[in-house]
Formats: sequence, structure tokens, C-alpha cells
Amino acid sequence: MSSNTSSASLHILVIVASTRPGRLAPAITDWFVRATLPETADRGITVDIADLADIGLPLLDEPEHPASGHYLHQHTRAWSRRVAAADAFVIVTPEYNYGMPAVLKNAVDFLYQEWAWKPVAFVSYGNTSAGTRSVQMTKQVVTTLKMMPIGATVALRIADSIRDGQVVESTRLDEAARAMLRELTRVASVMRSLRTDTDTDAGDGVAGPVDGLSLARAHADDLAELLVLQRCCWVQEALANDTLDLQPLRETLDDLRASLSTWQVWCVRRNGRLVAAVRARDHAGTWLIGRLMVAPDQTGNGIGSWLLSYVEQQAPAGVARYDLFTGHRSTRNIELYERAGYALTTTGGTPDGSVHLTKPRQRAA
Ligand SMILES: Cc1cc2nc3c(=O)[nH]c(=O)nc-3n(C[C@H](O)[C@H](O)[C@H](O)COP(=O)(O)O)c2cc1C
Repeated sequence: MSSNTSSASLHILVIVASTRPGRLAPAITDWFVRATLPETADRGITVDIADLADIGLPLLDEPEHPASGHYLHQHTRAWSRRVAAADAFVIVTPEYNYGMPAVLKNAVDFLYQEWAWKPVAFVSYGNTSAGTRSVQMTKQVVTTLKMMPIGATVALRIADSIRDGQVVESTRLDEAARAMLRELTRVASVMRSLRTDTDTDAGDGVAGPVDGLSLARAHADDLAELLVLQRCCWVQEALANDTLDLQPLRETLDDLRASLSTWQVWCVRRNGRLVAAVRARDHAGTWLIGRLMVAPDQTGNGIGSWLLSYVEQQAPAGVARYDLFTGHRSTRNIELYERAGYALTTTGGTPDGSVHLTKPRQRAA
């Protein structure tokens, strides 16, 4: 079991779950964020507010089950990144017809793995029941997604707690909000280690070496970030090989876009941030692997080896060997490839200063 139970840099996503014009939700959210500021600021907790009215998700329009992690639409991928980045959630929700707002259920249904092993707290509001029936219904839904509702709640009866569209602030109410946040972060700190140890399914059913990874085929809207990552990574190559004359440093966004038609490209995100990528294609029975990159601050934790192994497994049936190139002075890369079973075929380097490594495909016994 990991001992990562600190509350260092916890990230909370506050989800605003009503969208109608004239709604009370923004005033209640503002109050909650203000009331808990002494706790969040003191402890370096970051808070992101996801107002479902601004996010504007359509009714669920993804063809595949969200558990697959294959998202067709940009709006889903943006929502996925936002939710994946969170360690815990606070849902600010009204009660509609004794239940949760449809917009909240829809936003939850869009995703799957991004919610798992994270605690959730509620700020509810309504008439006689102060929104608690909405919370009860939401709890039933979120536990299906491996979220954990905490015990403490804040429930506001509109008649008692709202005047002129604003929360009637009181020490008692502010303290209730802070107590709930303390309980939420306490649970979130512990649940982080659950994600590290047991929830490393990174998409496509692949277990990643560190927490928070998701792996998916690259899409057009990954490319700008991919270009930045590529340049960062090849600066290291330029230093190691004492040359700026490297194709990955010269490529433009259009070049990357064009490469998607000849290469299969995979991107790895860690808690929403692009941290690694690789590409491959079949050439006459050889699986050409290229542009394996890991963000400089993420090297040394197994992502490169894991991604290399993954991309090998994506080779089609007719492939007999894997091939790749790297700079002749890129010793870290060469060591990684040799550990993965590759052998150098050109010890003296090729005219462009790169070396060629190859590995036969192991056939299943
Ligand atoms: C469609 C609808 C259904 C409602 N149903 C309930 C209800 O079941 N229980 C309740 O306490 N209040 C109910 N209300 C009143 C809401 O609690 C109140 O309008 C609140 O301001 C709604 O939150 P919002 O302003 O952020 O949308 C309902 C309001 C609407 C618009």
C-alpha cells in the first residue's frame, strides 16, 4: 500500500449543477468557495469551479460506453480532463421534483474512470427538504462509479438561508462548510493512494506504472499540446547529440496533422496533462516505432517502458519485428530500448547521426 496520504496540493472540482436562467446556484457556490477559503488557502488546496451552464454539454452523444475511454467529441475530452484532474468533488445541487437535476445526471454519465476512487460532498438547497432528496438520489448514482459520498453535508432551506438571492451568512453555516471540506480532504488524501495502488487502468485495459494515467489514440485537438511536448523532449536530444538539426524540432502543427494519416499516434495523459506519446506504422512486416517521448519531469518512473510495451502490442498480425531509431549519443534512450530487448544494428552511427535498433517479435507459445 502506498503511503501517499498527505493533503499536499489536493485539487477540488466544485460542480455547479443547475443551468436555468435566474438560478440560485452561482450565489450558493460563491458563498461556499468564500466560506471555505481559510481552509483551502491555508492548506494549498486548489479549487476549480465547473459550472455546467458554462460547460454546455449536450445530452450524452458519445457512441461508445464511457468505460472504454474512447471519446469522439471535443466537449467530452475537455470534460474528461477537468474531472480527471480532480482529487475530490463538491456538488452544488438543487432538488428538482424530489430528485437530482437532469443536467447533473447527464454530466456524470458522460465519463467513467475519471470519477473513480474519489470522494464527493454535497451542498444542497431546496424548499422543505433543503435538497436532500436530490443528494440521496445522486449518492446512489455516484457509488456505481466508485465515488465515495462523505458523511458531512451542507443543506440549505431556501426560506431560512437565502435572502434577495444571496446566502444569509452566519458563523454556524460557514463552519459547517469548512467542516465538510475538512472531511472531504481527509478522505481525498487517503483515496489518492487507492488510485495509485489499484486504479491504474489507463484506458484500453492497460495498467500504467503510476497513478492518474490515461492512454488513447491522438486526435486533432491533442496536436498543439503534442507539438509543445515534442519540442521539449527533443531539446534534450539536441543537447545530448550536439545538434539542432533534428526533424522533430523543425516540425510544424501542419506536419503533425499530416502525420496522423500515415502514423498511428498514441497520447498518454496524467491527470489530464499530456505527458507522453509515441507513434507506429507497419512497413512490409516491420512495425516502425517513432517519436517515443516522455515529458522531462516525468522520466524515470516507467512511463517510457510501459508505452513502448503498449505500442509493440498494437502491431498487426503480419508484423515480424519492431524497428526504431535514436540519436547515437542518446544513451538514456538506448539503455531503455536495450532493456526492452532491442539490439543496435549500427554501432558507428548512420550519416544523420542516428542509430538503428531492432527486436524480433516474440510469438505466443
Ligand atoms: C423544475 C423544478 C422542480 C423543482 N422541484 C423541487 C422539489 O422537488 N423540491 C424542492 O425543495 N424544490 C423544488 N424546486 C424549487 C427549487 O428548490 C428552487 O427553485 C431552487 O431555486 C432551484 O435551484 P436553481 O435556482 O439553482 O435552479 C423546483 C424547481 C424547479 C425549477
